[in-house]
Amino acid sequence: MPKTQYTTHLGMVDILPDESPKWRALEAIIHEEATKFDFEEIRTPILEQTELIKRGVGQLTDIVTKEIFAFTKGDSNYVLRPELTAPVVRSFVQHTLAQRGGVQKLYYIGPMFRAERPQKGRQRQFHQFGLELIGTDNPLADVECITFMMRIYQRIGIKNFTLKLNSVGDPESREGYKDVLRKYLQPHFDQLSELSQKRLEKNPMRILDSKEPEDQEFIKNAPMISDHLNEESKQHFESVKSYLDMRGIEYVIDPLLVRGMDYYTKTAFELTSSDLGSQDALAGGGRYDLLVEEIGGQPTPAVGFAAGMERLFIACEELGIELTEPKSLDLYIVSLGENARNWAIQNIHQFRETGVSASMDYQARSMKAQMKEANRENARFTLIVGDNELETGKLVLRNMLESEEQLLSFEEVFSYLNE
Ligand code: HAM
Repeated sequence: MPKTQYTTHLGMVDILPDESPKWRALEAIIHEEATKFDFEEIRTPILEQTELIKRGVGQLTDIVTKEIFAFTKGDSNYVLRPELTAPVVRSFVQHTLAQRGGVQKLYYIGPMFRAERPQKGRQRQFHQFGLELIGTDNPLADVECITFMMRIYQRIGIKNFTLKLNSVGDPESREGYKDVLRKYLQPHFDQLSELSQKRLEKNPMRILDSKEPEDQEFIKNAPMISDHLNEESKQHFESVKSYLDMRGIEYVIDPLLVRGMDYYTKTAFELTSSDLGSQDALAGGGRYDLLVEEIGGQPTPAVGFAAGMERLFIACEELGIELTEPKSLDLYIVSLGENARNWAIQNIHQFRETGVSASMDYQARSMKAQMKEANRENARFTLIVGDNELETGKLVLRNMLESEEQLLSFEEVFSYLNE
């Protein structure tokens, strides 16, 4: 009988040892920049209550209607988080983070789950880094958020992108606009996709984000929200644009940009790249002034964004940018014979304790095999120990880059590596 081969689920991939250095490099950049911007990290569970996501993201969104992985166990309904804005807001409300005072500037890195049809740049488990600024409606917060997002790409060297910007209006503007949109779409009801028909009454703005082919003609000619913004929304949008101008950040206005979640109000933005193919969004976000209240908190304005990490790596590949953490090992102890192995077992930690990274053979292999492994591990030095060396107390320290060897006592090796 053939052996069963277990594999990852469709659209879910392993990050293998050769790939993890680039993940760590990117994560290091995100942590470093977040510190410079004075943002604090938040980590929330992978599983959330299904009702939170339905309520937060929106009952009629693609994410909720088609893409969530949800299950029931006992009396609880669990969902694998498809995004982190609703969970971060849940955490903000649950732990009354507002009491810490000021604006909460929270960032995160982690896996998300959406049951989408996998293709290049689209997975079922993917990773995002993102930011939520909770507690201010000042347009400067929107611009800080966008600046941070752009900074990460700029630092990595990805320049070939477009920042698309729109305002989806405050609640008052949206209500007025929804009426206009309903009136425009109603006569075409029979030609709309089934999902859009369902959305027309309750949530017609969702239709503008529809990917169904039969809806496209109507979306193209739809009245635009930008023509239906009230004074406050207009003013807010103008300020966002002028702060972006002040910072020298270029953007294009995209009146059809409504984004995939229902929580957005006022500013909406997306960063797209021509290096990505059909899944061209590197990152996206916007303001969500009603979500905190929707989830049970006090009315609190907020803005945020999230970026796809796999898509960032695809852009790097296309542009020939190598993101990596140099793999380095300070010392590999080559031990020959049982006594030498015992010596290595006893002494390796002394190196590690002083900050020298050190590895050794586990399998009593030949000198050649151990040297080969030291090379593969990119070791800067090897320490060669056999019966003879233990007897004389002089060990061979080999500088692997310069191919030079010196005979040193243990204390000398120790102080040499710690210089
Ligand atoms: P989103 O646009 O759904 O926004 O996702 C943000 C980014 O995650 C996308 O631009 C894309 O790069 C990446 N992404 C999304 N789905 C996939 C997938 N299936 N495979 C690979 N990458 C993917 C949000 O999630 C919002 N929570 C952003 C936000 C934060 N808005 C306000 N605050």
